[in-house]
Amino acid sequence: MSITPRPPIPSLIPESAPFTPEQRTWLNGLFAGMISLDENVTALSTEQAAKLLPDVLDRGAPAAADDGAPWHDPAMPLPDRMKLADGKPLPRRMMAAMAQQDCSQCGYNCNDYADALFTKKETRLNLCVPGGKDTARMLKTLYAELGVPQPAVPQADAAPAPATPLTAPGRSRDNPVYATFLSRRRLNKPGSEKETWHIEFNLADCGLDYVVGDSFGIYPANDGALVEAVLTALDAPPEFPIGGLTLREVLTDGVSLSPAPDMLFQLISYLTGGERRQKAKALAAGQDPDGDAPTLDVLAALQKFPGIRPDPEAFIESLDALQPRVYSISSSLKCNPGRVSLTVDAVRYEVERRTRLGVASTFLAGRVSPGDKIRVYVQKAQHFALPADPTKPIIMIGPGTGLAPFRAFLQERQATNAPGPNWLYFGHQRSDYDFFYEDELKAMRSSGLLTRLTLAWSRDGNVKIYVQHRMRDDGRDLWAWLERGAHIYVCGDALRMAKDVERALVDVVAEHGKRSPEDAARYVAELKKNDRYQADVY
Ligand SMILES: Cc1cc2nc3c(=O)[nH]c(=O)nc-3n(C[C@H](O)[C@H](O)[C@H](O)COP(=O)(O)OP(=O)(O)OC[C@H]3O[C@@H](n4cnc5c(N)ncnc54)[C@H](O)[C@@H]3O)c2cc1C
Ligand SMILES: NC(=O)c1ccc[n+]([C@@H]2O[C@H](COP(=O)([O-])OP(=O)(O)OC[C@H]3O[C@@H](n4cnc5c(N)ncnc54)[C@H](OP(=O)(O)O)[C@@H]3O)[C@@H](O)[C@H]2O)c1
Repeated sequence: MSITPRPPIPSLIPESAPFTPEQRTWLNGLFAGMISLDENVTALSTEQAAKLLPDVLDRGAPAAADDGAPWHDPAMPLPDRMKLADGKPLPRRMMAAMAQQDCSQCGYNCNDYADALFTKKETRLNLCVPGGKDTARMLKTLYAELGVPQPAVPQADAAPAPATPLTAPGRSRDNPVYATFLSRRRLNKPGSEKETWHIEFNLADCGLDYVVGDSFGIYPANDGALVEAVLTALDAPPEFPIGGLTLREVLTDGVSLSPAPDMLFQLISYLTGGERRQKAKALAAGQDPDGDAPTLDVLAALQKFPGIRPDPEAFIESLDALQPRVYSISSSLKCNPGRVSLTVDAVRYEVERRTRLGVASTFLAGRVSPGDKIRVYVQKAQHFALPADPTKPIIMIGPGTGLAPFRAFLQERQATNAPGPNWLYFGHQRSDYDFFYEDELKAMRSSGLLTRLTLAWSRDGNVKIYVQHRMRDDGRDLWAWLERGAHIYVCGDALRMAKDVERALVDVVAEHGKRSPEDAARYVAELKKNDRYQADVY
């Protein structure tokens, strides 16, 4: 295999400029991207440098001007994040517009996605799955400040695929491979309000491997009944040819059918008149004329404006591309050679008497069949891994599907005979129905692999018991484990749980470490800095 060497980064920053060698290399790379290497630029003009430098320096050349990104908090609403970033350079505001989960579903972390947009290496403005439409809209507004035209078709897959993929097969969303779906098994018992599945894939054919802590990306397909309903509402022939596929095929796994993007309302506004046109224009501008905007998926949008009959090709162009979703891997390859497992909560909810389906979770929960080949990739974990030293104690806090990576961690610690103690906090709604992997966890407890197993059931009694309540109860022991060098992990809901768990940890450190609240917060910040407190939240 021949590998095309990357062109050397030109030296655009004058040698006399007051930067360390690392900063100069970084700035040269950044400027090269910003001014387009196609122009064969070999040095910056004073004018160019003057225009670019303030933005670049402010936005955090390594150690130059890192403002700590105070908006980097997934629990903070978007308007508050934008307020915090107000007046900051454009890339910082772009970052604040994202969902701050560093979930890597877009293929970057939030900071790098912002940088890539700012330097125009990335033109897709709608890649942030957790940020959804609000983030895409804000990014569109911010992108306009760059003074370049908006990407012509703002679809998630609008950017041309690189001639040579940037990653090995199966190592990124841009270069997926096919894996075989093996099986699903419901993890809740009948009577549960939840629908969570243990999912298995065979990786033997595609040869993918992974390490515990990694996530697994899958490309889903839309629900067939929803596709048919959209076709009916469109009143278009299902076999209408679009780019070598049929309209039905593109609607099945090419485009997202929820929520309705602004471009669709724009298209609808061209096809209607009078009050309907005003409403469509308002919706396209992010307004909510009838108070139903958040409920409008693609089908609901078509039904709101019946009889518009858009050209199928224009209709497809107005939709966002269907994006992959990622799931924490809940197995270790060492215990499951050639296999990967996931722990997936099926998202289903009712709006206007129609059940809405989370596209990927219900795909895994029902629409895919054993033997089907699915496009997948392994998303490498950033700062979410077992300690390199197997003797270190670990404390894992994983309510709900947050348990997933910790099942993998425990399997790995078992397979490698790691002597370090393991403490798991698991919680869910009801002990009778929602104790995932109960037999396995109890067996691990009996064998001694699980040194401690602490459970929190939120709906067993009249009072909600959450994992953080148990942490506070166990404060003295938790503190002792931390002082013995324990690594602590949290996984699951980003919006509320992860924040509450961190608050509980700070309180435990303050009380049992006999520190002021400020010193306790500093202690926890230090744990994070040293990769001893790691989070995988969504
Ligand atoms: C690193 C990482 C690891 C993850 N690991 C796991 C895991 O182990 N297990 C797991 O189950 N998930 C996990 N997720 C979440 C997963 O990626 C998906 O986001 C989740 O399955 C939903 O995707 P979906 O396609 O089914 O739903 P989508 O089609 O994306 O729909 C979800 C959207 O529906 C809306 N919605 C949901 N519920 C309601 C409601 N009640 N009322 C109104 N609107 C609602 C919300 O807008 C929500 O964003 C992880 C995410 C990340 C980033
Ligand atoms: N958009 C939402 O409103 C919402 C809500 C929940 C989950 N989710 C998402 O749904 C997916 C799957 O969820 P899941 O099945 O893993 O479980 P989950 O719904 O997150 O619930 C797991 C357990 O956590 C409890 N919990 C709720 N709030 C908590 C808090 N602040 N601190 C600690 N524990 C708390 C729940 O209790 P109770 O439910 O009894 O309060 C339940 O016992 C995830 O993607 C999650 O982010 C979204």
